[in-house]
Amino acid sequence: MCGIVGILGRGPVAPALIEALRRLEYRGYDSAGVATLEDGRLTRLRASGKLRNLEEKLAGHPLKGEIGIGHTRWATHGRPNETNAHPHANGKVAVVHNGIIENFRELREELMAKGHVFSTQTDSEAVAHLVADYLREGTTPQAAVASALARLKGAFALVFLFDGRTDLLIGARRGSPLAVGFGEDGAYLGSDALALAPLAKEIAYLEEDDWVVVTREKTTFFNAAGEEVVRARRPLQAGSLQVDKGHYRHYMAKEIHEQPEVVGRTLAHYLDLASGTVRLPFAFDFDARALSRVTISACGTAFYAGLLARYWLERFARLSVDIDIASEFRYREAPLPERGLMIVVSQSGETADTLAALRYARAHGQHVLSIVNVETSTIARESDTVALTLAGPEIGVASTKAFTCQLAVFACLALALGRARGVLTEEREKELVAELIATPGLMAQVLKDEARIEPVARDVARASSVLYLGRGPSYPLALEGALKLKELSYIHAEGYAAGELKHGPIALIDFSIPVVVLAPHDASLEKTVSNLQEVAARGGHLILVGPNSAKVAAAADLAGFIEMPETAAGAFAALVYALPAQLLAYHVSVFMGKDVDQPRNLAKSVTVE
Ligand code: F6R
Repeated sequence: MCGIVGILGRGPVAPALIEALRRLEYRGYDSAGVATLEDGRLTRLRASGKLRNLEEKLAGHPLKGEIGIGHTRWATHGRPNETNAHPHANGKVAVVHNGIIENFRELREELMAKGHVFSTQTDSEAVAHLVADYLREGTTPQAAVASALARLKGAFALVFLFDGRTDLLIGARRGSPLAVGFGEDGAYLGSDALALAPLAKEIAYLEEDDWVVVTREKTTFFNAAGEEVVRARRPLQAGSLQVDKGHYRHYMAKEIHEQPEVVGRTLAHYLDLASGTVRLPFAFDFDARALSRVTISACGTAFYAGLLARYWLERFARLSVDIDIASEFRYREAPLPERGLMIVVSQSGETADTLAALRYARAHGQHVLSIVNVETSTIARESDTVALTLAGPEIGVASTKAFTCQLAVFACLALALGRARGVLTEEREKELVAELIATPGLMAQVLKDEARIEPVARDVARASSVLYLGRGPSYPLALEGALKLKELSYIHAEGYAAGELKHGPIALIDFSIPVVVLAPHDASLEKTVSNLQEVAARGGHLILVGPNSAKVAAAADLAGFIEMPETAAGAFAALVYALPAQLLAYHVSVFMGKDVDQPRNLAKSVTVE
């Protein structure tokens, strides 16, 4: 959701800005731009579309300058063209912005009345003119930014570069993340650690409403009241943030294939492998027996992980669970019970709606536990308990390995709560943990047989609409499978609870619409097979994802069959069945020649609501 960077270096900074933007491009790829000070004067270069367009331009017109800022955009206000690309600049100041300035219209009118000339349709340009307006009054850059920040409403991370000031960058955050990196060759500002990892040795995060003044000599943090504050610096290990594709054609392929390893790593973090029991890396600092209810909130794929976990929390911990999409939950004014636990789920830890849901829950007395992939993220920092997914950086915009790691954490959590609440015996816990421990191996088996998914993908690629069906934990997986397919291939897809089919959607069934049935060997298999037969009886185009025993039981004409291991069965089969759903979407997208890692209109880390 826009990536921003600022570098105060010792040689020409444009190449390093581009390198940092490459690592931020997953946040948006509608346009990109950089600004530097050439001989002290503001100069900028921008291009619509992906970063490579900007690189091509820069090859023709290299920018000098040892200080600069850069931006990669996910458009909110104004079309994704070059005019609206950041940095926004006037003669005095250039700015890059991630977020939304809610009061930009009134600022724009006010500034235009004072003679400022706007050239874009963006909300962000108002910030550049507002700061320039204060500078025009003769204030220092620092004072101008402080005055401007006090006028801004909305969510933002900002980095400013000033004409004639070759030793000054100013950054600010409210609602959107911003980090400062400290390296041997300079000081850096960036949306996340990923951008700064190859450049900086240490990192510090701005807290809500902080702003920071960076010069070659020192970095000074201020809070909203303008008081100098100290923000902890921690080492940044570049190796831990590797973001190359390895020998894979796409990040997504690499991330799908990493799942046996990262799910195994995540499970090892939450299990005692020697005794085959759950051992959480944190203690419950609430009375699990006294818990009245669990509320879960998240967006997109992370929401589906929560929806799936509801089955486990209810079944293994006998907890009642309320779950909602964060963008709805935050405005529902839901009454929350005393002794309630709120679980928020987020790969990035920065999703604006999920963060707002978290804050609502905190304000209403809930204990907040977050399942996040980024330890330093805002959601992690604002939670009472942080349960990390050890998925490593996820670059492909469509979430894959973060999802299965979220499921792994949820599974362990459900078992731990079940034990703590006295509803799960140790013997049952051990049986279930054994099932969990088997999942990485089963995932590896599915990946080894990836080739058999290709013919099914070719078939699906011809469709203009696809249905996914599942029961129990396979129902959220059906939703997730449909989401993966639509975001990667732009084919319309919908997921349904298989039992819901006859309440309406069955009217859609004809041979032009593939119906992907997720049928692991679990408690619902028999019922799922009946639903499959209802589709078969109406001449449906069936694709079964299940073990051979399900195929035999179905005894129906199948247009496709993705055979799954018989042992990927039971309560946690969803962890393994997520893979064929991901692989199917991936191969459809590759086959159709779509942009797998950066699907149109999307961005990772949605920091606006
Ligand atoms: C879909 C996808 C999104 C994210 C959603 C939440 O493939 O990646 O639906 O799951 O935007 O993002 P996080 O988990 O970062 O809060």
